Amino acid sequence: MEEKLTKLKEELTSVLATATKEADILNIKSSYVGKKSEIAGILSSLKDMSIEDKKKYGSLINNTKKEMETMINDRLEELENKSNINFDSTINYEVETGSLHPITIIGKEITDILKRMGFSVVTGPEMESEYYNFEALNVPKDHPARDMQDTYFLDNGMLLRTQTSDNQIHAMENFGAPLRICAPGRVFRNEDLDANHENTFFQIEGMVIDKSVTIENLLYVMQNLLKEIFHEDVRVRLRPGFFPFTEPSYEMDMSCLICGGKGCPTCKNSGWIEMVGSGMIHPNVLRAGGIDPNEYTGFAFGFGLTRLAMMKYKINDIRVLNSGDIRYLSEFKID
Ligand code: DAH
Repeated sequence: MEEKLTKLKEELTSVLATATKEADILNIKSSYVGKKSEIAGILSSLKDMSIEDKKKYGSLINNTKKEMETMINDRLEELENKSNINFDSTINYEVETGSLHPITIIGKEITDILKRMGFSVVTGPEMESEYYNFEALNVPKDHPARDMQDTYFLDNGMLLRTQTSDNQIHAMENFGAPLRICAPGRVFRNEDLDANHENTFFQIEGMVIDKSVTIENLLYVMQNLLKEIFHEDVRVRLRPGFFPFTEPSYEMDMSCLICGGKGCPTCKNSGWIEMVGSGMIHPNVLRAGGIDPNEYTGFAFGFGLTRLAMMKYKINDIRVLNSGDIRYLSEFKID
């Protein structure tokens, strides 16, 4: 017996010496002192031994097992210390964390508010067909409204969408009525760049279709959106507008927060910034989406997400948003 136990210990010593990884040592632990190990077997055979043998070997076996466990644990500890040896707690390991782009922040904020009002969030393609971007939205080929949204045509006959309104048609086709969606996204226009115009910017579209939707519902949603975003009663004004896909159409302006309404380059010296286009969805648009205008009515709106970000963060030049200038863009934090 003594010999057997000594041999076990020797064997363990040599396998431990070659183990270099924690996982290896844990394996050794289970095979040398675990439930199915040889020493465990010897220990349980004690009960069948004569009283004399029990006295003779009992503590020897138990002690051997303990010793073997200590050998393994020491080796584990040794390995741990070795891997920590290069750790210098005096070095400053602080990592610089990134920050979200202002458009991402405002987009999340506004979709969160809309979600609470029961809107689902959808997204659509940036490369779009003329049909979804214009025709289905009641803007036929030579309609003058196309001039206001000069776009980039692609070689494959598609275009870069000029507005998120294309999502209206996709949503109606995909979900039918009743419907309550919002669709944030990037849009493109062939614009001359200045403090207030970019060729790439962001909008968020909203659309509600149901059995008795009215203009009051539209106003309520838009005013509350602005109130929640700016955490204050911002001054807004509603003007009749024209959009081929809504009838009647409205434009909502907000008093310019950059200059406090006094007039500056951002608001073209008018004191007001156009924020939302909206209106009751034109029957032709409902029809294009496969919805019967005699049964359903709806409203739609398109917020300039980029403008919202500019107002909220008092950014006086739109070009900074696409500049990738981290020194500037990293200043914005979620409220
Ligand atoms: N798509 C329009 C634009 O980019 C904005 C707009 C106006 C969206 C009226 C709407 C709407 O949903 O009803 O100028």
